[in-house]
Amino acid sequence: MSSQVVVGTQWGDEGKGKIVDVLAEKADMIVRFQGGDNAGHTVIVNGKKYVLHLLPSGVLHEDALCIIGPGVVCNPFVLLEEMDTLEKGGLKCDHIVISDRAQILMPYHRYQDKLEEESSNNKIGTTQKGIGPCYSDKYARRGIRYHELLDFDHFKARVKEVLDYKNKLFAGVYGAEPMDYDTIISDFEKIYDRIVPMIKETTHMVNEALDQNKNVLFEGAQAMMLDINYGTYPFVTSSSPTSAGVATGAGVAVNRLQTIIGVVKAYSTRVGEGPFVTELLNETGEHLREIGGEYGATTGRPRRCGWLDLLVVKHAAMLNGLTDLVITKIDCLTGIEPLKVCVGYDVDGKVYDYIPSDQAIVGKAKPVYKEFAGWTEDISKMTTYDELPENCKEYVRFIEEFTGVRVSMISVGPDRVNNIYIHEID
Ligand code: GDP
Ligand code: IMO
Ligand code: MG
Repeated sequence: MSSQVVVGTQWGDEGKGKIVDVLAEKADMIVRFQGGDNAGHTVIVNGKKYVLHLLPSGVLHEDALCIIGPGVVCNPFVLLEEMDTLEKGGLKCDHIVISDRAQILMPYHRYQDKLEEESSNNKIGTTQKGIGPCYSDKYARRGIRYHELLDFDHFKARVKEVLDYKNKLFAGVYGAEPMDYDTIISDFEKIYDRIVPMIKETTHMVNEALDQNKNVLFEGAQAMMLDINYGTYPFVTSSSPTSAGVATGAGVAVNRLQTIIGVVKAYSTRVGEGPFVTELLNETGEHLREIGGEYGATTGRPRRCGWLDLLVVKHAAMLNGLTDLVITKIDCLTGIEPLKVCVGYDVDGKVYDYIPSDQAIVGKAKPVYKEFAGWTEDISKMTTYDELPENCKEYVRFIEEFTGVRVSMISVGPDRVNNIYIHEID
């Protein structure tokens, strides 16, 4: 049995997509277990760029089965659009399966997300893809799952029932126009024949693959600090993007997860609202945004940039049980002098060495920094650890020391091949 989990350790956009694509070379199966098309994963192969939202980033390896797991909130229209784009580019898409337990992200979820954000005095800065409303309906037990689509008359009745409720909400709370039932049903009729053959009971597929010692890769979207329980609540997403989320979101017992890989961007970024202790509202922050191309892959929003926050990565190491770290975008730090990493939060003289739960406290925190000397050499073509400048190695060693997790791989550029391998990832 070989199971690998890839998760983000910060606020998303660490480069998980690129790392999953690299690791997927050896995978028989790749499984998304949470989130939806709020994710934006960029993969670059031979200079060609692919941006994936719902499809697992392993999809470019056509021999591996790609599963959209039970914990995902899946907008079928977005999924088919993504498949169309790949097919136009000459890739096969007959290796993609949707769990019959996954939630259908409905057109009214997007509408509700937009209305909620527009009317709120405490905006989250969501991607407006309908993620929060879809998960809310799931937990309110009003959600519609993919197996319900198989009997179209049943599906139509369910949509009627939920839409009646939603339209009352839209009119009563937001003073907004209702959504039209016939349009929604006719849009589903158009995609029905394509989507239905992809719906399968995937929980047995995944467990049987593990029984047969196949290589199964679980791909996280979003990241630790966007976790619904342990992130910067309420400025979070609505799922559990941690290794714990794999158990519930893919239907795999916790003791079957072996290797848990945390992707760490060498600095921090965040999209949307919420406290960000190491944020740099200065030239260095702007430099990182430009050099790192830090603009949202889903919404195009400029990402907020700052120094690496190791309290955040330590939090992720503890809660995910990380066995390996992959550091990405360290090439973007070249030429910055000095470099800083956050090792504590100072709140009115009290220094925290862990993340406080109350975001009002985090909002007041001043970062306690450790400084590092930088380097000027171009490291983006390097392929071995030994070649790296000593100051760069020092930066990497400190991340290992502070988090207690070994760094197994360093990514020094966006392409599939720009990697330095240090330890074999089991
Ligand atoms: P994800 O959401 O975690 O998959 O990350 P995104 O794809 O949203 O953002 C990461 C961005 O950084 C993408 O544009 C990648 O192509 C790029 N990228 C990934 N790894 C590296 C790296 O090591 N160096 C550089 N310069 N860019 C990288
Ligand atoms: P990947 O997988 C970065 C953020 C949004 C917002 C909050 C809630 O590419 O790393 P939501 O639409 O989920 O209700 O928004 O979460 N967010 C992300 N930020 N990367 C992501 O995904 C994100 N997915 C959601 O910006 O602050
Ligand atoms: Mg992203």
